[in-house]
Amino acid sequence: MDQILLILFVFFCLSIPNFYAQQNYSGNSVTNCDNNDETGPSPAFLYTCNGRKQSCQAFLIFKSQPPYDTVSSISNLTSTDPSEVAHINNITNSAEVLPSNKEVIVPLICSCSGQYYQANSSFTIPTNDDTYFTIAQNTYQGLTSYDILLRENNYSATSLNPGLILLIPLSCACPTSNQAVNGTKFLLTYSVSSGDNVYDISERFNASIRSVVHANGFTETVLDGPVIFPFTTILIPLSTEPSSSQTIIRYPPPPYSSPIIPLYKYNKRSSNRLYVWTGIGISLLVICFVLSIVLLHYKKKRNEAAQKIGK
Ligand SMILES: *[C@@H]1O[C@H](CO)[C@@H](O)[C@H](O)[C@H]1NC(C)=O
Ligand SMILES: *[C@@H]1O[C@H](CO)[C@@H](O)[C@H](O)[C@H]1NC(C)=O
Ligand SMILES: *[C@@H]1O[C@H](CO)[C@@H](O)[C@H](O)[C@H]1NC(C)=O
Ligand SMILES: *[C@@H]1O[C@H](CO)[C@@H](O)[C@H](O)[C@H]1NC(C)=O
Ligand SMILES: *[C@@H]1O[C@H](CO)[C@@H](O)[C@H](O)[C@H]1NC(C)=O
Ligand SMILES: *[C@@H]1O[C@H](CO)[C@@H](O)[C@H](O)[C@H]1NC(C)=O
Ligand SMILES: *[C@@H]1O[C@H](CO)[C@@H](O)[C@H](O)[C@H]1NC(C)=O
Repeated sequence: MDQILLILFVFFCLSIPNFYAQQNYSGNSVTNCDNNDETGPSPAFLYTCNGRKQSCQAFLIFKSQPPYDTVSSISNLTSTDPSEVAHINNITNSAEVLPSNKEVIVPLICSCSGQYYQANSSFTIPTNDDTYFTIAQNTYQGLTSYDILLRENNYSATSLNPGLILLIPLSCACPTSNQAVNGTKFLLTYSVSSGDNVYDISERFNASIRSVVHANGFTETVLDGPVIFPFTTILIPLSTEPSSSQTIIRYPPPPYSSPIIPLYKYNKRSSNRLYVWTGIGISLLVICFVLSIVLLHYKKKRNEAAQKIGK
C-alpha cells in the first residue's frame, strides 16, 4: 500500500511540469524539416489553441531591421494598423527610420484556426533568394514557422517566385483559464536573440519567472534558467499592455557564437550567490561573536556570585 502511494506520489511530481505547461517551447525543432502534427499539435508549427477564448488581443516583439525599420513597413509586414503600432511604441512619425535592432511592440488580434492560434499576415515575396525557411527565420525573425508556411500556402518550397503573395500565420496565443485566474491578461510573443536569457526578459516585462516557466512548459531547472535558442519564440504573460519603456535596442548585434545562451548570466548569478553565502557567513560569525561575549559575561557574573556565596 505504502509502495503504491509512493509510486503515485513520484508519478505526480514527475508530471507537474506538463500539468502546469500552458504551451510547449519549440526548442530546436523549428530547424527540423520533418516535423509533423498528425497525432496532435506540435510547437514546431505554432501555439496550441487551448485558451479561454478563441480570439484575443495579443502582442509580439519585432526587432527593426532594414528594410523593415519604420512603423509603416513593420505594420505592413505584419498586416497590422500603423497607428496602433505607432501609439503603443510612443512613435509619432510612422516614416521615422528606427535604429537597427530596436524592439517594436506589434499589437494584433490572435485567433484559433484549426488546432493553432495565429494572426494572419500577407507577404509579397520580394526577391529570388527568398525561401520559406529564410522568410520564417530572417524576415519574420522566427515569429512564424517553416512548417506552417509550407502547410498554409499552395506553393511548393521550390516554386517560390518574386511577386507571389504568401499567407504568413504569425505566432501568438491567448491566456488559458489557469493563467487568467492568476492575472494574465495578454501573452506577448518574444522572438529570442542570441544573448537572451529568461530571467532578464521576465524582469524587463514585469512577469514572474514562475509564470514564464509555466507559460512555456520549460522543464529544465539548470542554474541559469531554461535554455532558449535564437529564432525561436517564448511567451511572456502580461497583466497590463506592454509599454515602450520596456523595450530596448539590442546592440551591438552579438556575433553568432553558440546557440546556448547564458554564460554571462551564469557568472553573474554564481557571483551573486557567492555574495549571498559570504554575507551569511559573516552574519554567522558576528552572531557567534556576540553570543560568546554574552555567554562569557554571564559566566563571569555567575562565578562572581558563586564567589560571593562562597565567602
Ligand atoms: C505539451 O507536451 C506534453 C507532452 O508531450 C503534452 O501532453 C501537452 O498536451 C502539450 N501541451 C500543449 C499545450 O501542446
Ligand atoms: C506593403 O508593401 C507592399 C510591398 O512590399 C506593397 O505592395 C503594399 O501595397 C504595402 N501595403 C500597404 C498597406 O502599404
Ligand atoms: C513618449 O515620448 C515622449 C517624448 O519623446 C516622452 O516624454 C514620454 O515620456 C514618452 N512616453 C512613454 C510612455 O514612454
Ligand atoms: C487566417 O487564415 C486561415 C487560413 O486561410 C483561415 O482559416 C483563418 O480563418 C484566418 N483567420 C482570420 C482571423 O482571418
Ligand atoms: C490552395 O489550393 C486549394 C485546392 O487545390 C484551394 O481550394 C485553395 O483555395 C488554395 N489556397 C490558396 C491560398 O490559394
Ligand atoms: C509589475 O507587476 C505587479 C503585479 O504583478 C504590479 O503590482 C506592478 O505594478 C507592476 N509594475 C510595473 C512597473 O508595471
Ligand atoms: C496559478 O495559481 C495557482 C494557485 O491559484 C498556482 O498553483 C499556480 O502555480 C499558478 N500558476 C502560475 C502559472 O503562476
